[in-house]
Amino acid sequence: MSTAVRSAPTIQEVQPSRRSQIVACAAASLFILGYFVSSVGALTSPITGAWFVGTQKPRRGLLWMIVFAFVPGLIFGWRKIPLTGALQALEYLGWALVAAVLGTLPFTFHRLVSPRLPGFLSTFPLPLAAVAIPLLALALHIGAASTAGLFTFLIFWFAATVVWLWNNESRVTDLVFGAGFIVAGSFALLRHFAGVALPANLPIVVAFSWVCLGGALLLSIWALFHPLKTSTWAGRPQTVALLQSPFTRSPLHVVSEEGSEALISTTGEHFPIRNGIPVFLKPGDLTGDNGKYNRLYETIGGFYDDTQRLFGAFRGVKLDSYFENYMGLLDVKPGDSVLETSVGTGLNFKYLPRGTKLAGLDLSLEMLANCQNNMRRWKMEADLYLGNAESLPFADASFDVVFTCGGFNFFSDRAKAVREMIRVVKPGGRLMIEDETEEYVKSTYEKIPYTSSFFGDRNQPVTVPIDLVPPEMENIRVEMLKNGQFYAITFSKPAV
Ligand SMILES: C[S@@+](CC[C@H](N)C(=O)[O-])C[C@H]1O[C@@H](n2cnc3c(N)ncnc32)[C@H](O)[C@@H]1O
Repeated sequence: MSTAVRSAPTIQEVQPSRRSQIVACAAASLFILGYFVSSVGALTSPITGAWFVGTQKPRRGLLWMIVFAFVPGLIFGWRKIPLTGALQALEYLGWALVAAVLGTLPFTFHRLVSPRLPGFLSTFPLPLAAVAIPLLALALHIGAASTAGLFTFLIFWFAATVVWLWNNESRVTDLVFGAGFIVAGSFALLRHFAGVALPANLPIVVAFSWVCLGGALLLSIWALFHPLKTSTWAGRPQTVALLQSPFTRSPLHVVSEEGSEALISTTGEHFPIRNGIPVFLKPGDLTGDNGKYNRLYETIGGFYDDTQRLFGAFRGVKLDSYFENYMGLLDVKPGDSVLETSVGTGLNFKYLPRGTKLAGLDLSLEMLANCQNNMRRWKMEADLYLGNAESLPFADASFDVVFTCGGFNFFSDRAKAVREMIRVVKPGGRLMIEDETEEYVKSTYEKIPYTSSFFGDRNQPVTVPIDLVPPEMENIRVEMLKNGQFYAITFSKPAV
């Protein structure tokens, strides 16, 4: 055995960037200001809404947004509630709820339709619906809705564009934030203070609203005929040949049943495939630490990537350089087959060479759904599995490289997870275990209000799990990363 525990980093430490911190603070201040200054809020709220709804499943997003629109309205406008009688008060509340629902619907429309539209076209559902829905409400005599015009269209289009650029990690996001806020802000200010808004009943305003309604309908029809595609498992025989039941180790084959696919083992076990993801979980997999942290990831799955980016920005850390650093330790070559257990949203895959055959397994369906979105966005392909890193659904010696990042510390049975990683990697294959150190968990997760409830009552402190790597493994190395906040253990399985 050759072990090298390194205290000094052998890879380049990433230097913090002041510029990134300043941009992040300026953007955050603007969004906070939006809650207090209505002309700024007119711009920032649609951006927040378009971003938020994209991080949620459609129904959950709709419900949360109604709550966000309805409750603050009541808190700030409680004086307007007629106190003349219970019936009037109820009527007022009813209309306030209708207004909240109408205000939320364009975002839900955007959430449903835009993922199915290519490129920049995906920025149109929000502004079109923001104009079309008030028109429909007016036509249906719902409340005191009035037609929205060009200003509404521009502000919502701007919001959808900012979120689109953010989601696509566009380098021009900074520019758009700067230039776009000035342009759209001027519109909002003009409208607010100079009363430049055109009268809602002007024929041209009404005609524009009808055009938007037509546009929204056309996009809906397009989306209906262009569902999100997931490739079939019957078309992946080489991948299926490597699969086995994680419980009985029996080989699996694909069957078609009522329009969907499933995997069946030779001993009769049945594993459904949901939205292109085979499900290998049994109830016991979500107990202990696995169950506890699973609740966390099911809740934050939609925000996970954004929180990473925002955290990075506020700390001035260039995430790309950091990811490249530790992924470089694996020395993956194009053509290698790579498995990440606890793949999450697939952030690490972006830093592997194109032409790598990717597979990812995770305990959280929400994280995997976001991983699928990322793969589409980055034009990459990966076989994804819902399962437990402690019982992998793969035959022995299936992959050239196997690694786990960011999840390992809190697996229920870490020793079993390491044994499984070693079992499924080929002889001579490379492995890596990367995660936070105790110092990072204490200084960060325990300090954040929501995550502290998960990380505060840990049974024991995090230790670098070098003792779990069997002595017969080769080239065992430990790197301390980010000034000791993270560790990475790399090693190889002996070639036979
Ligand atoms: C912090 S995230 C890391 C995601 C990704 N690897 C990254 O580096 O961005 C931790 C992930 O580990 C997953 N996870 C936790 N316990 C697991 C287990 N026993 N089996 C598989 N995945 C697990 C969680 O669902 C979550 O997606």
